[in-house]
Amino acid sequence: MIIDGKETRPLILNADGFSIRVLDQRQLPWAIEWADIADAETAALAIRQMWVRGAPMLAVTGAYGLCMALRLDASDANLARTYDMLFRTRPTAVNLQGALNAIVAAVKPLPPELRAAAGYARAAELCDADARDCEAIGRSGLPLIEAIAKQRPGKPVNVLTHCNAGALATFAYGTATAPIYLAHEAGIPVHVWVDETRPRNQGASLTAFELSQHGVPHTIIADNAGGLLMQRGEVDLCFVGVDRVTRNGDAINKVGTYLKALAAHDTGVPFYVAMPFTSFDPLTATGADVEIEERSAEEVTHILGVDGAGQRQTIRIANPGSAAANPAFDVTPARLVTGYLTERGSLTLGDLQRRAAIGHIDR
Ligand code: MRU
Repeated sequence: MIIDGKETRPLILNADGFSIRVLDQRQLPWAIEWADIADAETAALAIRQMWVRGAPMLAVTGAYGLCMALRLDASDANLARTYDMLFRTRPTAVNLQGALNAIVAAVKPLPPELRAAAGYARAAELCDADARDCEAIGRSGLPLIEAIAKQRPGKPVNVLTHCNAGALATFAYGTATAPIYLAHEAGIPVHVWVDETRPRNQGASLTAFELSQHGVPHTIIADNAGGLLMQRGEVDLCFVGVDRVTRNGDAINKVGTYLKALAAHDTGVPFYVAMPFTSFDPLTATGADVEIEERSAEEVTHILGVDGAGQRQTIRIANPGSAAANPAFDVTPARLVTGYLTERGSLTLGDLQRRAAIGHIDR
């Protein structure tokens, strides 16, 4: 991604060869701060507390965390213990489990003294594969934007997105944002409606931040405004990311995605789920079988921002004493999904299932 005009990866391996440096997403958009992670416990903390977030980014952070543990103790027992600790950090995105499994598969057949190096090599491959996938996802979605742009030359194509499935969550163009960035680079006028994404506001803080950094025109909207914009014909396409797609095509993504899909269906706006195959979970039958992460009620009752003097403040916005609940994801049924933008093309549900059945989910 671009930060202050420079191409930057939001996670890098430090020169010491074992610790990583991550862009601390809790500080955005107010400050660009990096945090070092040198052990598996801190990697788990960073995932749980959302220093890093977004399915692909928490997957590679987990992968490196496992490698850090192997460096100190490469026994089977420590591998299993650390896997379990990292696996339990955030339950909904399947990518974390997939990345941990990839490290285990790479190191398990080896003697302990070779395991850490093999793990680090595999983790680096996962990062590079993610970057390639994002660009390919962009190429899968770009024709959708091009087709609309051709119908009304000079007018921007309006894309609505939810949460942050962008460059901050991945190693390159993001997933939902990838076709947008490619269109922008190709000189096609594109404008993004950015859902604020309560309660943590990943849209207002993160997606808006990265679109600004890339110079892509965008407008932040309240989560509840998308339906009206679709009714008025002001949304051409919806692109969202995803934490897991189950065997029947249900898409589990940031809470609020389902309501956008319903509105898109009602108004005839195409609704696409952008995803690497690493987000496909053919072993889970439907969205109802996926654990939906419950986060702290304080994310609902309080809000973080800066005051007029630029000081960061957390303030309570809810009635004191009222109960609050915070399910972090929801399930968009497959019937509401127009198509899946993957690194292997823009696919129907049938294509997705066939590709998975013939082993295309392996890297
Ligand atoms: O809770 P978050 O911020 O990790 O939720 C992120 C999302 O829902 C993203 O859309 C998803 O992980 C895909 S990121 C390419």
